[in-house]
Amino acid sequence: MHKICACLTIFEKTKFMFQSYQIQSKEAYEKAYLNSIQDPEAFWSEIASNFSWHKKWDSVLEWDFKTAHTQWFIGGELNITENCLDRHLPDNKDVAALIWEPNDPSSPNVTLTYGELHAEVMKFANVLKNNGIKKGDRVCIYMGMIPQLAIATLACARIGAIHSVIFGGFSAQSIADRLEDAAAVAVITCDGANRGAKTIPLKSVIDDALVAAHSVKTVIVYAHTHTAVSMHKGRDIWWDEEMNRMDELGLITCDAEVMDAEDPLFILYTSGSTGKPKGVVHSIAGYMIWANYTFVNVFQYQPGQIHFCTADIGWITGHSYIIYGPLSAGATTLMFEGIPTYPNAGRFWEIVEKYKVNILYTAPTAIRSLMCFGEEHVNGKNMDSLTVLGTVGEPINEEAWNWYNEVIGKKNVPIVDTWWQTETGGILISNLAGVTEAKATFATLPLPGVQPVLVDEAGKVLEGNGVSGNLCIQFPWPGIIRTTFGDHERCIQTYFSTYKGLYFTGDGCLRDENGLYRITGRVDDVLNVSGHRIGTAEVENALNSHTGVIESAVVGFPHDIKGQGIYAFVIYQGHAEDRESLTRQDILLTVTREIGAIAKPDKIQFVKGLPKTRSGKIMRRILRKIAENELGNIGDTSTLLDPSVVDEIIVGRLA
Ligand code: WTA
Repeated sequence: MHKICACLTIFEKTKFMFQSYQIQSKEAYEKAYLNSIQDPEAFWSEIASNFSWHKKWDSVLEWDFKTAHTQWFIGGELNITENCLDRHLPDNKDVAALIWEPNDPSSPNVTLTYGELHAEVMKFANVLKNNGIKKGDRVCIYMGMIPQLAIATLACARIGAIHSVIFGGFSAQSIADRLEDAAAVAVITCDGANRGAKTIPLKSVIDDALVAAHSVKTVIVYAHTHTAVSMHKGRDIWWDEEMNRMDELGLITCDAEVMDAEDPLFILYTSGSTGKPKGVVHSIAGYMIWANYTFVNVFQYQPGQIHFCTADIGWITGHSYIIYGPLSAGATTLMFEGIPTYPNAGRFWEIVEKYKVNILYTAPTAIRSLMCFGEEHVNGKNMDSLTVLGTVGEPINEEAWNWYNEVIGKKNVPIVDTWWQTETGGILISNLAGVTEAKATFATLPLPGVQPVLVDEAGKVLEGNGVSGNLCIQFPWPGIIRTTFGDHERCIQTYFSTYKGLYFTGDGCLRDENGLYRITGRVDDVLNVSGHRIGTAEVENALNSHTGVIESAVVGFPHDIKGQGIYAFVIYQGHAEDRESLTRQDILLTVTREIGAIAKPDKIQFVKGLPKTRSGKIMRRILRKIAENELGNIGDTSTLLDPSVVDEIIVGRLA
């Protein structure tokens, strides 16, 4: 166990400009914003020069939204792990890079200094190489929230392999689809993961996935929960044995592979309005600079601070604000294995007190759920160390914002409401903590480099303030999505063809009288359940794969804790009502098998028919109104093939 270097506290009181590009006043924000719009190339070139490069770029930017083509820092060469690790060693080798808090509060925690994390990453990079994994190969990582997950991710980046981290809640079928799509050559996993009172058998899920995925040649297994697993000869190897072998072979250091700025860094699968998740690809340099720039500015990071992002590394928030943002800034990142309510609903606040956390970054769902447990879990915990509170992933309601502000921040800690997406790589719209104004439920202002526009359904740009529309971005920022893996056309279709010349976010948005932005939620067929993106078509496919389901339609409904819940209308063959509860459970189990427990509908209503137009299209608008209990506001049903189905559905509506 290592102590966090005492010298780190010296910056606590006085705020100093950590980087030349740290914005510390409203005027500086306005100036930076203006510069970034007037001369983006000069602006980003200046910022990029603060990083460590093997070769400087030849030109800064090339782009064409018509073909979804964006390249930044063209011709530049670097390795992101040198920026996240090596460059901090001369001055900060003994500074804590990663603190790990285990699921069980009585188990020992772990702190890895920059020196130690660097050594582990290099050694594991050698394990990868020794097993034939090389630059450009796709490696899937399916692990719990343990330090080895961060080590594995960085080791891939060290050798130029493309990582694809899959959230531990996805099923074998989902993993198989992703492995196949990426033609992954290796999987890194654990025997199991701890989540609250449960142990999740990760290796066993991988074994099931690998029945269908044939490209995988190697599975590296880290023994964490020490539960029994099957080990397949010629394919499965133990993490610890491999690491020990590197010691024996003297393969301790590993030079970073020199990568092109535009080489892919990772693939992260995310849901859209079609039935199949897509592999969002980010490239190295632009993503790194965006993750770093937004981390430093939005959270107003000061050296020595401890940053606690509660997301899972299986989602983009974990990639950008547990790993790449904080580590590229030399910060101490805190990684938590467990859940906010285990062993009780005071766990987050205990962690804040225990490590003197400065920046806490979490999701509205977590805030709403902890709010319900009452203030007794917060009372008595010393949280004076907090300097910033962040939220991400879904719109935050005013009540939750106020609770976060009053009960956690004691009205003394700025809240940043950060809007962004898997595709954007990092935060695009947010106030800068304590620098630009916060407004409850508003993400507020675009970061430098971000040019938002609102459009109406027809694509007409809505000028001026006090307007609502669909949120688009009209100019590339360094962290923008580069492609969807293996299918560039899909990237063009999904993001760049709805509105000509614009990147379309899929979100609705209001720009208020003062020009502040408020995200109102998805306008496409994507649900946001507990901050997790789930496509309605994906859930429908899973429902329809059940033998008895003839057809289904899925919509969202407002949910007090999760933000949105999933409401499924299902036409079932025969008589579901004979064994209704069991049929429901069968269907839920089918969804869990097909996608994972996160996609299970909260409500399943059996119906005889669905509201369809004469051309056979399901009128989701009507189903949405029913699910939301807006029965007086259903609108015109006269164009339906059979308007009587609506009455029948209303009668059977589940409260
Ligand atoms: C939603 C998560 C309101 C939005 C980083 C977006 C938000 C989707 C906010 C992306 C916010 C994210 N306020 N809504 N501060 N942040 N969203 O890809 O609908 O998992 O399109 O990325 O989450 O989800 P994703």
